[in-house]
Amino acid sequence: MYDNIVLIGFMGSGKTSVGKSLARKLYKDFVDVDTVIEAEQNSSVTDIFKNKGEEYFRLLEQKCINELTQNKGQIIATGGGLPIYSSIPEKSLIINIDADFDVILDRLSKRERDKRPLLQDESSARALFDERIDTYRELANFSVDANQIIPTFIHVIYDYILDKRVL
Ligand code: S3P
Repeated sequence: MYDNIVLIGFMGSGKTSVGKSLARKLYKDFVDVDTVIEAEQNSSVTDIFKNKGEEYFRLLEQKCINELTQNKGQIIATGGGLPIYSSIPEKSLIINIDADFDVILDRLSKRERDKRPLLQDESSARALFDERIDTYRELANFSVDANQIIPTFIHVIYDYILDKRVL
């Protein structure tokens, strides 16, 4: 029924950590869109934003998710803007990692914040969060409350996936 599981959610909500953990549990491949783009461009997301602009980065995201979803059986973590600017190919089970903005801010180290150009200014990041949150929830087949540490909610996602018999 579904070819892949695609994780969406705001920056720093834990998509990559959740994805790695799920992939281990389900014996599936894990791929992270930002990491694939950085490897292909041989450049960090920050430098792509700086040198080529956000619009260019958004094109790379669409191309990347289209290419990745040619394969099946993967857990794919997306960047926070991907579902806003790109369409996620059909046959993807979309799971929203749903954490509050303040929880996200508390969780991120300075190093993790520095990697994210759109998280540099707190008030504009908060506005972005408010702008996007409904879209994440609407697009998702399932939203998981991610306000606690991963081990407390990973089994909720795992049970949902097993129940749906996907992948
Ligand atoms: C972005 C999220 C980032 C990265 C880029 C833009 C966004 O990924 O793709 O900095 O627009 O929300 P993470 O969600 O993994 O931080």
